[in-house]
Amino acid sequence: MSAPIYEFAKNYAESGVSRFHMPGHKGKPLHGLEPLDLTEIRGADYLFGAEGIIAESENRTAKLYGTAKTLYSTEGSSLCIKSMLAIADHCRADRQHRMLVIAPRNVHKAFINACILLDIDVKWVYPAVKSRSLCSSAVTADDISAAIDSCPRNPDAVYITSPDYLGFIADIPAISSLCRTHGVPLIVDNAHGAYLKFLDHDTHPITLGADMCCDSAHKTLPCYTGGAMLHISRSAPAGFVECSKLMMSLFASTSPSYLIMQSLDLCSEYLAGDYPAALAKTAGRTELCKRRLNDMGWRTIGDEKCKLTIASAEGGISGDSLGDILRQNKIEPEYTDPDLVVLMTSPFNTEEDFVRLESAMSEIPVTKGTDLEFDGIPEAVVRLPIRQAAFALQQVIPAEEAAGRICGMTVTSCQPSVPIAVSGEEITPEIISILKRYGISDISVLR
Ligand SMILES: Cc1ncc(COP(=O)(O)O)c(C=O)c1O
Repeated sequence: MSAPIYEFAKNYAESGVSRFHMPGHKGKPLHGLEPLDLTEIRGADYLFGAEGIIAESENRTAKLYGTAKTLYSTEGSSLCIKSMLAIADHCRADRQHRMLVIAPRNVHKAFINACILLDIDVKWVYPAVKSRSLCSSAVTADDISAAIDSCPRNPDAVYITSPDYLGFIADIPAISSLCRTHGVPLIVDNAHGAYLKFLDHDTHPITLGADMCCDSAHKTLPCYTGGAMLHISRSAPAGFVECSKLMMSLFASTSPSYLIMQSLDLCSEYLAGDYPAALAKTAGRTELCKRRLNDMGWRTIGDEKCKLTIASAEGGISGDSLGDILRQNKIEPEYTDPDLVVLMTSPFNTEEDFVRLESAMSEIPVTKGTDLEFDGIPEAVVRLPIRQAAFALQQVIPAEEAAGRICGMTVTSCQPSVPIAVSGEEITPEIISILKRYGISDISVLR
């Protein structure tokens, strides 16, 4: 049996058993997927105490990714991120201080939520080479090294986002070797990079030396929304594997979606088959598309093989306007902002998709536009710990009146949920202008 969770659900759906258990639809079609939607009935295993079909499927996926352990999440990388930080927290030796994590600023909101829930202090890294976008970071091992050196004590983890939303990939081997020298675990938000394992040249974070990473299977692989994986490396610190399920269960629903688990299960079977060949073709086609766009005069940025990021403002049109034109041509991008358009490709994109994109782009005149305007998030003026501020009494006020006040609930860009002002930081005039740029007019500040 190669997809045990799916096989179990399918057999059960076909068995004609009267379902006196959750979910309420009893397997009768309203939407269409109900027959396969289960709960933890006998034989269906338990996600957080997996010993049966779920363990079998997770173990097979762990083998594919070459990990010590891979845990399924039906609540996205958002759940995995909180879980990874809880695992690192649970296993650290220093119990006297709050946990201290080093991270560049382009973290996803789930990281901030973990800091709030676990009372984590963050030493933010501001790379020497400034990023031209909120959701990117040009962080290097030297930047991390300088941050470690400036910490009051040895940090408990280094946390980076790679690939970032724009498709830039960090030098994980160099950062990992630095972390090992300092005895600090490296955690990677690889939400966008589940496919990296299967490229001709395997550049998955676990292969390159990360201790833990999360992969949103649903972002780049054929998996239902919410399906994700938490991977723990064979060289991760002691205790990580053993406490991992328990730590994940602290934040997770006790009703994990069996549909999503089946999707992860089938996805894993698919990865073990022809996927690498299909992926190689997609990477090649994406590269060709980039070249064709470059020949038209557009600049594409980023390192990822299956992401197309167009610096459209440089070509004379804002990312948001270009996104609208693409939509008129029946193309929906992943993300647009004033400067950029991000498109994600997979083997499920057809040749027609690529041709449609190239044809639409060729119709738009490229002119001399403006360089990326964004100047990076300025260094934070931290006035209170994140958790203390997040749970303090707050009021919502217009952003333009917030100068000098302390941020209450972290403010993120609407998509891709990267923090502009973090709980406990002073709101400065620079932050107010970034809030404006992202169309955020109100902010929660401490009373
Ligand atoms: C960089 C990054 N990390 C984490 C997440 C959260 O992933 P998920 O939607 O799987 O919970 C996202 C979502 O967009 C993301 O872009």
